[in-house]
Amino acid sequence: MISVAMDGPVGAGKSSVARESAKKLGFIYVDTGALYRGVALYTVRKGVKDTDEDYAQKVEALLPEISVEIKIENGEQHIFLCGEDVSEEIRLPEISMAASGVSPIPAVREFLLELQRDIARKNNVLMDGRDIGTVVLPEAQVKIFITAKPEIRAKRRFEELVNKGVDTTFDQVLNDLNRRDYQDSHRAVSPLKMAEGAVLLDTSELNFEQSVESVVELVKKVL
Ligand code: DC
Repeated sequence: MISVAMDGPVGAGKSSVARESAKKLGFIYVDTGALYRGVALYTVRKGVKDTDEDYAQKVEALLPEISVEIKIENGEQHIFLCGEDVSEEIRLPEISMAASGVSPIPAVREFLLELQRDIARKNNVLMDGRDIGTVVLPEAQVKIFITAKPEIRAKRRFEELVNKGVDTTFDQVLNDLNRRDYQDSHRAVSPLKMAEGAVLLDTSELNFEQSVESVVELVKKVL
C-alpha cells in the first residue's frame, strides 16, 4: 500500500488540493480534520465548552459514547457521527473552533489514531491533517508539508465561507486563523510541524491546478 501524508495549517489549500490529487492518483482521500470536527460537534451538542473547568476530562468522558466513521459515497468522503451524516454541520466556524479545542487532548488523539491507521493499512491513501507525517503514518512513502502566507490563507478561507453563505468578515477569519495556527503549532501533543523527510510545498504563488500538479509529481516519483 502507498501512503501519502499531507500536513499543513488551515487554508493552505490542503483539503481541496489533497482531494483532487488523490482523485488523479486513484487513491482514497482521507480528511482527518473531519474526524476531530466530528468529535467536536458531539461535545458542542452536549453543551461542553472549552472554557469549562475540567474541559479535557469532560470531553474524555464522552468518548465512549462517540462513534465516528468515514464513508465514501459517490467518490466523496462523508462523516457519520453515531450513524448521522454530519458532513455539512462540521464545517461551521463554531465547530472549527471546537475542533481546535478537542484536538490537543491526548485521549481524543488516541481515540482517532487506530481509525486513521486502519484506513491506510487497507487502501492507497492520501491523508491530510496536522500530524500525519509525524505521528499517524511516519512510514508514509511521501510526506508533504503544504503551506502559504497567512493573509493568502485567510483570503481563501474567507471566500470559501462567503460562498457557503456564512456571515463573517475577512478580519474575523484572519483572527481565527492566527489563533488556530498558534493553538495547532504550540500544543504539547502532536503539534503541527514539518515531518522528517517531508517536502515543503508553498502554494502562495501557485494556483489550484499548479498545486495539484506539484503533489501528483511528488507522488509519481515514488510509484
Ligand atoms: O483541517 P481542519 O480545519 O478540518 O482541522 C480541524 C481541527 O482539527 C484543527 O484545529 C486541527 C485539528 N487536527 C489535528 O489536530 N490533527 C489532524 N490530523 C487533523 C486536524
